[in-house]
Amino acid sequence: MPTLLVTGANRGLGLELVRQYLDDGWNAVACCRNPDAADGLRALASGAGDRLNIQRMDVNNADEITAVAKVLDGAPIDLLINNAGIVDSYGTGVAEGNDDPDLKNYDHEFWLEILNTNVVAPGRVTGEFADNVAASDKKLVVMMTSGLGSIANTWQGGRYAYRTSKAGLNMLTRSAGEWLEARGITVIAIAPGWTRTELGGPNAPTAVEASVAGMRAIFEKLTIEDTGTYWNFDGQQLPW
Ligand SMILES: NC(=O)c1ccc[n+]([C@@H]2O[C@H](COP(=O)([O-])OP(=O)(O)OC[C@H]3O[C@@H](n4cnc5c(N)ncnc54)[C@H](OP(=O)(O)O)[C@@H]3O)[C@@H](O)[C@H]2O)c1
Repeated sequence: MPTLLVTGANRGLGLELVRQYLDDGWNAVACCRNPDAADGLRALASGAGDRLNIQRMDVNNADEITAVAKVLDGAPIDLLINNAGIVDSYGTGVAEGNDDPDLKNYDHEFWLEILNTNVVAPGRVTGEFADNVAASDKKLVVMMTSGLGSIANTWQGGRYAYRTSKAGLNMLTRSAGEWLEARGITVIAIAPGWTRTELGGPNAPTAVEASVAGMRAIFEKLTIEDTGTYWNFDGQQLPW
């Protein structure tokens, strides 16, 4: 059966991706910062047996990424999903008491952390596992972006950190896609929609089950011709 590797797999969209693919009989390498506290993943282990491989990986920790690559020892990864991500919040600001459209008072250190986690880390992870993906049948790399990363669709101020990070991730999709195309690897960016997770909050209109089902339907039909494309979970392509 094919193998999936997901970062940030202990909750939210990452956990649901692992759950649905395991249900379909896939093998999953579920990466998370703290496996000991990953109750959601451990709950899946009883049904999945050795098809579920839980690995420690902070995506900002190069040593932990390399350690997972060593454990895998070149094993094929059909679907690599760079899912781990963090966000700032619009309106309330990321620095207490400051509205985030005010660039002077913005939390610039947190901005760097967001860029590290949402852009640099997916680049590092993709580089580390590119050989594993190239060795697989499906050869698909997914960048979990956001509709808020679309420059063409930007109509509000604020959320500078998250927006620039996801716009950067979109550019990484295009440029890494070009790098990996020669090896038959498809690289796409996908927006999961505003979804009820810790990050999305309770008022989001989309359930994780529906978001993941929509994304999986897209992954299913992609070919190398689609490399460098930007999707919404509902099957629509988004403007960059
Ligand atoms: N939910 C939405 O509405 C929405 C919309 C657009 C895009 N997205 C994107 O979808 C992805 C998943 O979001 P979600 O909604 O599932 O959020 P979530 O429930 O907050 O989950 C985020 C996941 O990322 C992990 N993570 C954060 N920093 C990490 C790091 N340095 N190393 C490893 N893992 C790290 C978290 O792990 P810990 O538990 O250890 O913190 C958690 O597993 C993100 O990239 C997000 O930007 C979500």
